[in-house]
Amino acid sequence: MNAVDLKEILSNYKLTENEIDEIFKVVNHIYIHPEFQKRLTKEFLHHGNMTLGQHIIEDTITTYKLSKKYLNNNNYRLDLALKISMFHDLYTMPWQNNELAKENRFTNKHGFRHPVEAVINAYTWYKEDFENTIDAKIIVDGIIHHMFPFPVIVMDNRIINNRKLNNFELFKSMPEDIQDLIFESTSRCNFLNLSWSKTKYLEGKIMAKADKKSSLKQFNNLYGIFALVTGKNKSLRK
Ligand SMILES: [Fe+2]
Ligand SMILES: [Fe+2]
Repeated sequence: MNAVDLKEILSNYKLTENEIDEIFKVVNHIYIHPEFQKRLTKEFLHHGNMTLGQHIIEDTITTYKLSKKYLNNNNYRLDLALKISMFHDLYTMPWQNNELAKENRFTNKHGFRHPVEAVINAYTWYKEDFENTIDAKIIVDGIIHHMFPFPVIVMDNRIINNRKLNNFELFKSMPEDIQDLIFESTSRCNFLNLSWSKTKYLEGKIMAKADKKSSLKQFNNLYGIFALVTGKNKSLRK
């Protein structure tokens, strides 16, 4: 399947060559990976008819733009904000009209579950980005809570075997320190085995804001919004 052209996506935003360079200096290795390229094809539709890859790139540009006012803050890490954005929706299976997703119990549906799948896949495909302990903490917490105020599943040792992650085998093979970051992040503000917390770090907060901002523009009909909860999108069946 043909992937969506990057130039076409970038042309929707007024970015200078320098700005594009500044973004891709950080994210190019993520963008060129075959798993990311697969998500730029129609196999992975995200909101309505928009591909997942296009959604992620648009979020990353929006994250970059929203980050500008924090660049004078020495503690703010633009690179981490852009990486959180590139990783945040790297879930395993296309989710709309997915038979498997419909069988899961409500609180284990795609909306609640996909940030955890995204962390596991991001770690598996881009290990070098998780080598620094502080970076890993900020990235994991940002991905896990990017849907805030929408909650995310709690992963802890008592209930983990009930969680039907599409990439649970990969989770089991992750090093303990990265698994612990997932446990710690998802166990904050636990109510009904869902974590209602926001991320602790500014980089993730900016990215979560960018995700809401660009997602609102991307829904082309009401079916797309209902699909977020039900997993079924009538307009795509036609
Ligand atoms: Fe998401
Ligand atoms: Fe997203």
